[in-house]
Amino acid sequence: MNQVLETIKNRRSIRNYSDKQIREEELKAIIEAATFAPSGHNCQPWYFTVIQNKKMIELMNEKIKKQMLLPSYKWANKMGESAQYHVFHKAPTVIVVSGDKKASSPLPLAGTDYYYTPLVDCAAAIENMLLAAESFGIGSCWLGLVNLFFELPEVKKLNIPDDYQPYFAVTLGYKNVVVSHQTAPKRRTGIVDYIR
Ligand SMILES: Cc1cc2nc3c(=O)[nH]c(=O)nc-3n(C[C@H](O)[C@H](O)[C@H](O)COP(=O)(O)O)c2cc1C
Repeated sequence: MNQVLETIKNRRSIRNYSDKQIREEELKAIIEAATFAPSGHNCQPWYFTVIQNKKMIELMNEKIKKQMLLPSYKWANKMGESAQYHVFHKAPTVIVVSGDKKASSPLPLAGTDYYYTPLVDCAAAIENMLLAAESFGIGSCWLGLVNLFFELPEVKKLNIPDDYQPYFAVTLGYKNVVVSHQTAPKRRTGIVDYIR
């Protein structure tokens, strides 16, 4: 198997990290990989907020867990109650990925005749980050739950520019677990059709 395919297959969502911070050059290379993702009309409509401040990560974890106890988030109540559960899996680095707000309409942007797709562009950038991290032996996890923080006033602490909307976060850190494609969830089958 070639190295790219091996990296794709070996990447798993990591939820157990060492405290050791990742190297600066690895962090830079992972972000650079994100910026090399394809984007509709080459808009590159992303913005990355790197959080390596433990207090900030803990504050976000606490606030999100409080939100998870609300009746409106019934599906998350149990996780919110758990003392062991950490939204960021205690990773030393968290990267919030935001997309250009003016580009978030599915309609052609006023004054143009083409579509902007910041959400999917950011998703492509995130996948590049996860694969770049795996290529360094760094663990990662794509986080949707972080959205519960984005709806709080404390989101301002992240200094995301006004014209960007936070979508997701990615955790990064050295793995405290052994994983490989053998530990991957079973793949669904019957999802390919051929017209030849
Ligand atoms: C959009 C999206 C949101 C996710 N949100 C979370 C999350 O909040 N917390 C978490 O631990 N994992 C999250 N995951 C990771 C998935 O649970 C994981 O990718 C899936 O179970 C398959 O496992 P694998 O990544 O090891 O292949 C998310 C993944 C995606 C694509």
